[in-house]
Amino acid sequence: MNLEIIRTVDGIRKRVAEQKKRGKTVALVPTMGGLHEGHLSLITKAKEVADFVVVSIFINPKQFNNPDDLKTYPSDEDADLESIAAEGADTAFIPSVDEMYPQEFATDVKVTAGVNILCDAHRPGHFGGVATVVTKLFLQVGADFACFGEKDFQQLFIISRLVEDLNIPIKIIPTATVREKDGLAMSSRNARLSEDDRRLAPKLQEAMQEVKSNTRNGMTINTACEAAWKSLEAEGNFKVEYFEVRCGKTMVLMEKLSDDCRLFAAAWLGGVRLIDNIKI
Ligand code: PAJ
Repeated sequence: MNLEIIRTVDGIRKRVAEQKKRGKTVALVPTMGGLHEGHLSLITKAKEVADFVVVSIFINPKQFNNPDDLKTYPSDEDADLESIAAEGADTAFIPSVDEMYPQEFATDVKVTAGVNILCDAHRPGHFGGVATVVTKLFLQVGADFACFGEKDFQQLFIISRLVEDLNIPIKIIPTATVREKDGLAMSSRNARLSEDDRRLAPKLQEAMQEVKSNTRNGMTINTACEAAWKSLEAEGNFKVEYFEVRCGKTMVLMEKLSDDCRLFAAAWLGGVRLIDNIKI
């Protein structure tokens, strides 16, 4: 396997400094492992924008507000390394929890825009953990670019804000959501769906497409979202958390359809929380 594995902050700093000295640009793809084609599309994008690609794998305990979710989060380092190598990335950065959070660690990064809504309203503390680890990864690696998926649009919004606010010299590259053939957005957690729930899961995207067509045909956003929420829960196993249309630039709630409208949805299916968003 032609892939270097680095587990220390010193190690990744040195490697990236070498590349930069040789005039190479560097892109970072932060992940928590459990890699699927969605993650791999970020690596493809990273290779397009930079000469040298670092993929980080770190299951960040600070962003799990539910201990069971952390315990059962999929982890298969060998399989992940094979995918990363096959995709043509240069280095895997895999710090341990101690390397990332030494005992005396006492700093939190808190972004106050794009919060208290959508996922943040349902997963308190989650985005604080994300902001802290992503800031650390940016400072550790010192990449010129970092790729993030639109699948986690609120995360992308919050990270873009923090990069601007803290003047971190890195360019955020958003990439489109990769889906299964039946429309389900790829996610590491999909592996935990039962066979029956996996068959039902694309209904979330179908309900979202209905909101899109209904609003385009003149139905109000509120009525369309309520109808989608009800029809999804009528399937039996779904428990909806939110169906909301917001501005993709500011994240404010939208009542009327316009160019920047994005539909955001989250629903539990069995014990698995599915999230998705589309431009409408
Ligand atoms: P993780 O869930 O592993 O996702 C890593 C990156 O892959 C994120 O930018 C996410 O948006 C992107 N991604 C996930 N599913 C995708 C899909 N179906 N299509 C396109 N991109 C997809 O997001 C995280 O990890 C963590 O919060 C992290 C940023 C690494 C911080 O710990």
